[in-house]
Amino acid sequence: MKKAWSGRFKEKTAQVVEEFTESISFDHRLWPYDIKGSIAHARMLARKKIISHKEAKAIIEGLKGIARDIEAGRFNWRVEHEDVHMNIEAELIRRIGPVGGKLHTARSRNDQVALDIRLYLKDQLGQIIALIKKLQRVFLRLANRYAGSPMPGYTHLQRAQPVTIGQHMLAYVEMLERDRERFQDCLKRTDSLPLGACALSGTTLPVDRQYVAKLLGFSRISINSMDAVADRDFEIEFLSCSSLLMMHLSRLAEELILWSTEEFGFIELPDSFCTGSSIMPQKKNPDVAELIRGKTGRVYGALINLLTLMKALPLSYNRDMQEDKPPLFDAVDTVKSVLQVLTEMLPKTRFNTKRTLQAASGGYSLATDLAEYLVRKGVPFRQAHEITGKIVRYAIDKNKELQELSLEELREFSDSIEEDILGIFSLSDALKRRVSVGSTSPDEVKRQISLWKERLKG
Ligand code: ARG
Repeated sequence: MKKAWSGRFKEKTAQVVEEFTESISFDHRLWPYDIKGSIAHARMLARKKIISHKEAKAIIEGLKGIARDIEAGRFNWRVEHEDVHMNIEAELIRRIGPVGGKLHTARSRNDQVALDIRLYLKDQLGQIIALIKKLQRVFLRLANRYAGSPMPGYTHLQRAQPVTIGQHMLAYVEMLERDRERFQDCLKRTDSLPLGACALSGTTLPVDRQYVAKLLGFSRISINSMDAVADRDFEIEFLSCSSLLMMHLSRLAEELILWSTEEFGFIELPDSFCTGSSIMPQKKNPDVAELIRGKTGRVYGALINLLTLMKALPLSYNRDMQEDKPPLFDAVDTVKSVLQVLTEMLPKTRFNTKRTLQAASGGYSLATDLAEYLVRKGVPFRQAHEITGKIVRYAIDKNKELQELSLEELREFSDSIEEDILGIFSLSDALKRRVSVGSTSPDEVKRQISLWKERLKG
């Protein structure tokens, strides 16, 4: 098979090189964008009279026919044609004759591939942003269902202070909001048309880049033609956003894994999202959450992969850059599947509120409230901390919870302790007492939920 670039070559490409350099095995998924870009390009060429309208029509009809065949699984991708761009072009020429060879006027694969990836990524970014919003709504519904249910809040994975499950769920809504904003921001920089940069220096032909941008829905065109074909920073930015998202979701995954253990017993994951063991009949494993935790590594890997790929590459296009696609595609697929599976699993996950209440009630987690009680009685906080620490020590030695100590026992530690101290040890009162903005109290959680409902509308 004759290559599109065979003119200056005396020898045929070695078979091993053909296999080594091909990208069709992975870039074929860009075909819808490649065809869309080519149709817009052909329309522009005709409008600028670089080709005739009749020629453009033949090219566009040919491309549409190819799209139909690919869609129907009737297209034969060939390694000899190297990549998605040349496979489609070669087939176009085969179908409509030499006029098909006019499509590549004022264009290079360098700006073509940059265009295809940008079109692809814009599409994917839109989907990912919508999926994040969906997941935020899932967390919001959980927050609503468990708005006032107490659970232990942790620092150092040691019981610290009681919190509401509602607030814990809202924490994820906040994280996801920042993730969504980051993707939205990445979309702005991805949304720039590189076509017209050609190989690297632009073209001598009178192209209309703004027109192509309009046809393809880009809000602007890239300016420096060398930069347009040389950079892949928008992909790296996407992978950075994805890594942060996965970092957040891996923390959720870890919590789900912990909470579903016998030791915690805070949640019951749906059977339909767990798997069993081939030997231990009693097992119910949180594999989905574990895989989310594990897949985080793949996405981080993709980020480091592309950063390393692009490091120190001289301008402008280098073939190295073909290697961007497998990690990019893998990260896109991973992020989307993780968001989808969580969106389905979380609504079916139940909290065992008896168990979380019981866990929140123990462990001296109201010690800070006791210290703050003393502060309200005029004791300097550092002293209040010391006194409370001693009370906790005493209670531990007596094998008692704070609420099991008598007023007399408590007064041994400070004269500032009075009758009203006993109200301090009610868990529900303790939650209600959190009055600061964004605190864990059921009322504040409900207020935050209604704010989020408004924000996540539509
Ligand atoms: N398959 C190539 C890539 O993905 C397309 C661009 C090839 N350009 C070239 N000058 N060989 O990067």
